[in-house]
Amino acid sequence: MFLFSLQPKKAIESQQNERAVIYLDNHATTPCDPVAIEKMLPWFGECFGNPHSSHHAGQVASDAIHRSIDIIASLINTVGEKVIVTSGATESNQLAIRGAVTHPRQKRKHLVSVTSEHPAVLDVLKDLENDGFKVTLVPVVPQGRANAGTVDLDCLASAITDETALVSVMWANNETGAINPMAQVSALCSRHGCLLHSDATQAIGRIPVDLEAVKIDLLSATAHKFYGPKGTGFLVVGAGDRRVRLRPQMLGGGQQAGLRSGTMNPAGIVGMATALEQSINDLRSDPKRVTKMRDSLWSLLSSGLQGLTLNGSNLAEEVRLGGNLNLQLPEIEGQAWMSSSPDVLFSSGSACSGHEATASHVLTSLGLSDAEARRSVRFGIGRFNTQSEIESAAEYLVENYLKLLRIQS
Ligand SMILES: Cc1ncc(COP(=O)(O)O)c(C=O)c1O
Repeated sequence: MFLFSLQPKKAIESQQNERAVIYLDNHATTPCDPVAIEKMLPWFGECFGNPHSSHHAGQVASDAIHRSIDIIASLINTVGEKVIVTSGATESNQLAIRGAVTHPRQKRKHLVSVTSEHPAVLDVLKDLENDGFKVTLVPVVPQGRANAGTVDLDCLASAITDETALVSVMWANNETGAINPMAQVSALCSRHGCLLHSDATQAIGRIPVDLEAVKIDLLSATAHKFYGPKGTGFLVVGAGDRRVRLRPQMLGGGQQAGLRSGTMNPAGIVGMATALEQSINDLRSDPKRVTKMRDSLWSLLSSGLQGLTLNGSNLAEEVRLGGNLNLQLPEIEGQAWMSSSPDVLFSSGSACSGHEATASHVLTSLGLSDAEARRSVRFGIGRFNTQSEIESAAEYLVENYLKLLRIQS
């Protein structure tokens, strides 16, 4: 049972009394790619210049940043001028949504989004509601129907009006892995001349994202979901057909054309570009590897445990991220299974709400009861997992589940 080769493995092993653990929680975060770590190191040491200084050391850092931004942009088929670097998707979502709808030239006051969005979108919308905006949240296709967990397109079409300023629909969901039909969502927004924001945090690096093929006005991402460092992300502004005006949310030195003040982070940005390049190269060279491991985990668990069901859609690659497995257990709470199985790391809800005892809003938005949601677990298989890890994890998890059942009965 191995995790990955650098420091994190040691850290997690020592927490677990030197036992090696298998990390299957890649929707919460991913281990930083060793190639990205290596490329980042000089920017903490000898290349320490402030990228906004006009002297040589500053220019070296600035050039590295611009090269990295161009790499990121080209990997999603846009241009570097449209990319703003942020501290992650939470900040990107805030800048995109609040920034666009509070711009003085924006006169529309209606916002549309989806019940299954991440709190980094939903909480911004709630806050805007308090400021006088009207917010409509549309449902997802319920459990048991084809494409369960994706946005209900009919409801979305009837929610958008000519008063809608912005629609926010995530590209892929962090719990169910549901992939939204972004081309159709984009067409609906064009019809009404409203802006489209997409939180693409779980999609970037995992599935192809081509901003020439699908027009998105504002797109958020965070590096640590594609094997980059934490605390670094980006927002693409204006990759759709409409002009986007943003009111900055962070004021100060006027960096990044005044849209996001603050000294840029060369190490983080170089690491983010390297990690995205590595992820996309990997995806192109072996697009089915992660999906095959996920399918294998599903088949091993469901043959070892009676009555497991899938939450969300089927496992087809058009509607579900290849590494995602969200399961409902027949008898045991997800948290109990997790606690009894410390050698495999997975999640009983989204990591961001994992500290709360409440049932996942994503699962209840699918139509699950609170009890069903609490009997659910999420696995996220990633690039650095191996088939032998999947087999060891499945054997261990089945064994622990059966032990728990015996204790309960
Ligand atoms: C879909 C989605 N959006 C936003 C975020 C927030 O990302 P960050 O914490 O890097 O800002 C996450 C992280 O879990 C996520 O999964």
